[in-house]
Amino acid sequence: MCGIIGCIGVKNAPEVIYEGLKRLEYRGYDSAGCAFLSHGKITVVKREGRVEKLLPLLKGLKADMGIGHTRWATHGLPSDENAHPHSAGGISIVHNGIIENYLPLKEDLILKGVKFLSDTDSEVVAHLIAQNYDGDLLKALFKTVKLLKGSYALMAICEDEERIVVAKNKSPVILGLGDGQYFCASDEPALAGLADKISVLEDGDFAELTAHGVKIFDESLQPVSREVSPNLAVCQSLGLDGCPHYMLKELREVPMSIEATHKAFNSIEAKLSKALKDVTRIIITGCGTAYHASLIGKRYFECFARIPVECETAGELRYKNPVMDANTAVFAVSQSGETADTVEVARLALSMGARVIAVTNSRLSQLTRLATVVVPVASGPEICVCATKSYTGQITALYLSAIVLAGESLDGDRAKELLKIPPVCRSTLESLDMRSLAHVCASSTGVYFMGRDIDYAVALEGSLKLKEITYIPGEGYPSAELKHGTLALIDVNVASIFIITDPALAGKSENAVEQVLSRGGKVAVITTVKEVKERLSNKLQVILLPECDKYLSPLVTAVAIQTLAYKTAVVLKRDPDKPRNLAKSVTVE
Ligand code: G6P
Repeated sequence: MCGIIGCIGVKNAPEVIYEGLKRLEYRGYDSAGCAFLSHGKITVVKREGRVEKLLPLLKGLKADMGIGHTRWATHGLPSDENAHPHSAGGISIVHNGIIENYLPLKEDLILKGVKFLSDTDSEVVAHLIAQNYDGDLLKALFKTVKLLKGSYALMAICEDEERIVVAKNKSPVILGLGDGQYFCASDEPALAGLADKISVLEDGDFAELTAHGVKIFDESLQPVSREVSPNLAVCQSLGLDGCPHYMLKELREVPMSIEATHKAFNSIEAKLSKALKDVTRIIITGCGTAYHASLIGKRYFECFARIPVECETAGELRYKNPVMDANTAVFAVSQSGETADTVEVARLALSMGARVIAVTNSRLSQLTRLATVVVPVASGPEICVCATKSYTGQITALYLSAIVLAGESLDGDRAKELLKIPPVCRSTLESLDMRSLAHVCASSTGVYFMGRDIDYAVALEGSLKLKEITYIPGEGYPSAELKHGTLALIDVNVASIFIITDPALAGKSENAVEQVLSRGGKVAVITTVKEVKERLSNKLQVILLPECDKYLSPLVTAVAIQTLAYKTAVVLKRDPDKPRNLAKSVTVE
């Protein structure tokens, strides 16, 4: 969702805020804006569109403190007016989250004569703080949040005070502690290179940043301390490494993501094994790509440990009154660890006595802090909105977890098979030529991905990836179901891509291929089975991938479907890193 950042005590606040917003842009890019305080005067600059549009407006601005925002629109269209910061009575605020009761609050304010300049839910916060202000910005913020329902990470500044005040509920806030310089932001990477130390605010916390330091208060405004830890983001590379897009860079990091996740798993094996003791029920949940990784995890748990597994998107699961008890383990899969629905399922599971296993790429996230045990996905920062290396990291983490649940050794055959995969992915990335198939997809009115069993789960992800970054409609579908519906959609303008990795099921999928061909549809096959290539390559395009273990094939086919989506986006001149209407981290419902 939206990204927010604040700084105080810095030499050049406009530059710091601008650079921070660039790093936070993956959270939303409908508009961007900032507010700076200098000599008792607030200057606000904001624009619809990407953060870079702020650059000319920031020229010549000087300030040592400020706040900034990059928006993913929830209430009100992307526009200059709806861009944050919002201001009232010499106070400016930025907000990440949703104020669920903003309408009655707004109506009340309008009755009192307040004029609104935007359609956002957030603007009510600026007006309420202005109304509650009595010479103390922190107290005004405290009084204001008591009126709010919903989720918020709020930062506010005021022309009469040299401080930034912050409030947090459900949306993340990290404080950065430098030498005479202090920061607050939605995530750790935004503070890379700025602050060596960080503290994570808890729900209900408030904070005050001045040029002399940071103070944290609890929900009653009593001073409280939060753990201080090193900011690891300073050591991590956030550059493009010579790639034209983050998506390509991150795709090339898939082998590293598998290796690093495998390595990191060793440190939690014992804890996980303990947490899974006497478990009789497993639920795996997540959203988007994380849900698709969960579907593959379900196959691992069921095949290796023979325990039935329920797998459901978090947004569905949380409202279904799910059956969970002390013998249930809920695997909550989330790259960011901040996805609202996934975090809420974790809370619900804990409240019902279940154990929560977070499978996440974020060591400071809400999910990490809630979980009984964290299975780390060690993919490193993923900037591109659509997930690539985190998907393969999640699959790796679930594969290893299933080995533990099955009581098998981490030195056994399954783990040995996993060691073979990163080099296979590396050579696939080097040799894969998806250009021709990308042109086929780019000229199609619809693209269907099909597969059976584990390949069907990858087909769902292939379809999601292509839709997300190319805007070509399509679906992931079980090959066997084709004749029960999707076949009606097949014509010469539609492409069907089959994923075939199991020799035992290959013949069945080939039947479906023939059914599409005989209706004049365009067909391509992505396979790890060389006999499939031998049988089909005289009729259609077959992308042959290296042969590999059936269960681990999603790690290899993932590289193919991700590359295909990337190349198709490039053909269509879409920005794969920032697809329209989407955000990487969905911290609202
Ligand atoms: C958003 C992103 C997806 C991601 C999903 C879940 O929709 O655009 O790429 O898969 O959220 O995110 P999470 O951080 O929970 O894995």
